[in-house]
Amino acid sequence: MKDFRNKNVYIVGGSSGIGLAAARLLFELGADITIFSRDEQKLARSAKAISAQCTSTGQTVAWMQLDVADRSAVERVLDTSVLRHGVPDILINCAGRAYPHYLKISVSINLTKPCISTFMECGTRQKKWYRC
Ligand SMILES: NC(=O)c1ccc[n+]([C@@H]2O[C@H](COP(=O)([O-])OP(=O)(O)OC[C@H]3O[C@@H](n4cnc5c(N)ncnc54)[C@H](OP(=O)(O)O)[C@@H]3O)[C@@H](O)[C@H]2O)c1
Repeated sequence: MKDFRNKNVYIVGGSSGIGLAAARLLFELGADITIFSRDEQKLARSAKAISAQCTSTGQTVAWMQLDVADRSAVERVLDTSVLRHGVPDILINCAGRAYPHYLKISVSINLTKPCISTFMECGTRQKKWYRC
């Protein structure tokens, strides 16, 4: 595994899911971590859980409340974070939500429908060809 000692990593959406998993892994590999998301209690709990996997002395885990939908807050919070925790070497953005139902719709719109349309089109063409 790569060595991330002394790497400064910012993870937006780092309080759960993929972001938290990335934070845990990179912290375990020696990085300093700052996580960002909206729910402060969840942030505090997650930061504590990440810091439990400390591998070298002096490693830091910090968290800052941030709603990425608020553009001015993004600029303000990131400026503050750079002053407090330094410029990031790596920035990971995992903020978002996974809605399985919407995934189904996306697949339907992006994959299934074009396939059906293509087959229907082929079918029509075939029929026309046979008629000729
Ligand atoms: N899980 C999968 O298998 C999968 C696969 C492909 C793509 N993705 C995509 O990857 C992203 C993360 O998925 P996940 O499963 O890790 O989701 P998750 O467990 O719900 O984690 C989402 C993270 O983003 C934060 N967040 C949500 N809205 C935010 C906002 N407006 N500002 C700042 N932080 C925000 C959440 O904290 P707060 O709610 O406290 O803000 C949380 O830390 C989603 O966009 C998802 O669609 C997921």
